[in-house]
Amino acid sequence: MPSERGYYGSFVAAAKVEATQRLGRGLETVEILDLLDLQDNDRVLEVGSNMGYMAGRMQRRAGCEIVGHDTNPSDLVLKTAQKRAKAGQRPDSGEVTFSRQTVEEANYPDGHFTKFVASHVLEHFEDPTEFLNEAKRITTENATIVFAVPQEKYLGQRSPDHKMLFRKIEELEALLAQHGLEVIDSRVREEEHSIVVATRKIKEDK
Ligand SMILES: C[S@@+](CC[C@H](N)C(=O)[O-])C[C@H]1O[C@@H](n2cnc3c(N)ncnc32)[C@H](O)[C@@H]1O
Repeated sequence: MPSERGYYGSFVAAAKVEATQRLGRGLETVEILDLLDLQDNDRVLEVGSNMGYMAGRMQRRAGCEIVGHDTNPSDLVLKTAQKRAKAGQRPDSGEVTFSRQTVEEANYPDGHFTKFVASHVLEHFEDPTEFLNEAKRITTENATIVFAVPQEKYLGQRSPDHKMLFRKIEELEALLAQHGLEVIDSRVREEEHSIVVATRKIKEDK
């Protein structure tokens, strides 16, 4: 369990994250959504769903089922995400739900999700092994697993909460390969200091 329950522990912190990261990184959001390539029959897991901004954008793209997890303990953060999803509901929308558990705590069945997204979450783990193993376990064999991380040149030493810093996409690719994930597509947004990758599980027989 990373330290974010404390760091991202309030509605104010959540609002600040949405303003700086989602609204401030509009192109990155579109890249994430494009790489996810959502279909109506997808079951999507979003880790770090915050106040439901990305879930809302996904909800507008396809009628897929979406589950958002965020460990921010604020009731208001969870309720805001739920309210927004309800407001965005259309007759052809899939179910959108949120949880304050970690995905490890939720203990989903093997191979349950077809898409998985963690935007600006991975870099907060001291050791992402358990998290990435769980991501692989609960997704289908050919699931698309998308990560977005900030580039180090933007963060510098300013945030002690960022446990891993990636100077370039190759460093992220190497970390993910060590954990059995191969990058199948990527976007580097220099102007938004961001790296976004779509990955798949490396097949055992490779
Ligand atoms: C930097 S914010 C990114 C929020 C959002 N994904 C975005 O890109 O705008 C990190 C978020 O991840 C959440 N978080 C951190 N560790 C988590 C975990 N293990 N499971 C679920 N959420 C987590 C924090 O509460 C926070 O809302």
